Amino acid sequence: MSGISTSTSTSTSTSMGSDVGTGTASAEGPGAGERVRDTGTIRLGDRTRGEATDDTTRYAPEWLQLREGVDAAARASELLDPLRIRLANLPGRAGGFVIHDLGCGTGSMGRWLAPRLDGPQHWVLHDRDPYLLHFAAVGSPRSAADGSRVTVETQRGDVGRLTADALAGASLVTASALLDVLDAEEIEALAAACAGAGCPALLTLSVAGRVELTPADPLDTEIADAFNDHQRRGSLLGPDAVSAACDAFSGHGATVRVHPSAWHLGRDESALTAEWLRGWVGAAVEQRPELAARAETYLRERLAACEAGELTVVVHHSDLLALARPAGGV
Ligand SMILES: C[S@@+](CC[C@H](N)C(=O)[O-])C[C@H]1O[C@@H](n2cnc3c(N)ncnc32)[C@H](O)[C@@H]1O
Repeated sequence: MSGISTSTSTSTSTSMGSDVGTGTASAEGPGAGERVRDTGTIRLGDRTRGEATDDTTRYAPEWLQLREGVDAAARASELLDPLRIRLANLPGRAGGFVIHDLGCGTGSMGRWLAPRLDGPQHWVLHDRDPYLLHFAAVGSPRSAADGSRVTVETQRGDVGRLTADALAGASLVTASALLDVLDAEEIEALAAACAGAGCPALLTLSVAGRVELTPADPLDTEIADAFNDHQRRGSLLGPDAVSAACDAFSGHGATVRVHPSAWHLGRDESALTAEWLRGWVGAAVEQRPELAARAETYLRERLAACEAGELTVVVHHSDLLALARPAGGV
């Protein structure tokens, strides 16, 4: 995969959710050792609501690739059986399932889920970033659990503007690491669209706002608080997204289940942990610049511990399954 340097960055980079990987900008002055930097996403100005433009945040495919294995291990497989039951009872299921993956990035959700479901599947991969959609199309899954055919198409656009009409005929909506970068209005629109289409939704790996680093450091809490505030900047929901989604989907009559889906990062995940640390601390400093000097020392020590295999991190996430009332009152 080529690098994030192909993006047309015009302002500071920033980190969102757990999405804090391969990056660019430094938040520290000259002479710093390990720089506190923002990683994994490139913010190209203020967020807009259209297709990818120079004003949206872009995600590095390398970062999405780096986290894919840990994401797969974290996903709440406990939610699969209730989902399978719902899908098995869908009218017209013989023709196969149509699954809309929102904010698909490079397509990791499909690569995880398609081989865990039986039956022919057509995935509609949505993202506003055409660069990521290209990777998603190229790396799409080919077959279902029972060997049935899996096909994909890509759709470039803003998933915050989803309507029930856009989901007509959909069997399932999925998203992964998306909810926390939406705002309340967008989550309400998503819930309303799923309810209108009678379509279940599996919305995974939303940040929960809690991390545990072992061994602990006195600065952990301050960094975590600043990071969470950063996630809530503007109207974004960040760690409040899951409870907002529970309210929104329940309000539309869906049955909602939430299950933890934490990352467990140890010695074997040191590359991901290091990138996560850089982004996590970088976002905290962007939010609270007064942390910069202490955060620089903190990051240097944390990275050294990570490299030595002496650091473990748990990054808490939640997966949510919302089972809408089937359209037509089935
Ligand atoms: C953190 S990445 C997750 C990607 C992928 N789902 C995964 O789990 O690897 C968030 C993705 O959502 C996309 N995205 C964020 N907000 C969006 C919006 N309003 N409309 C369309 N895509 C959006 C981004 O371009 C990015 O690909």
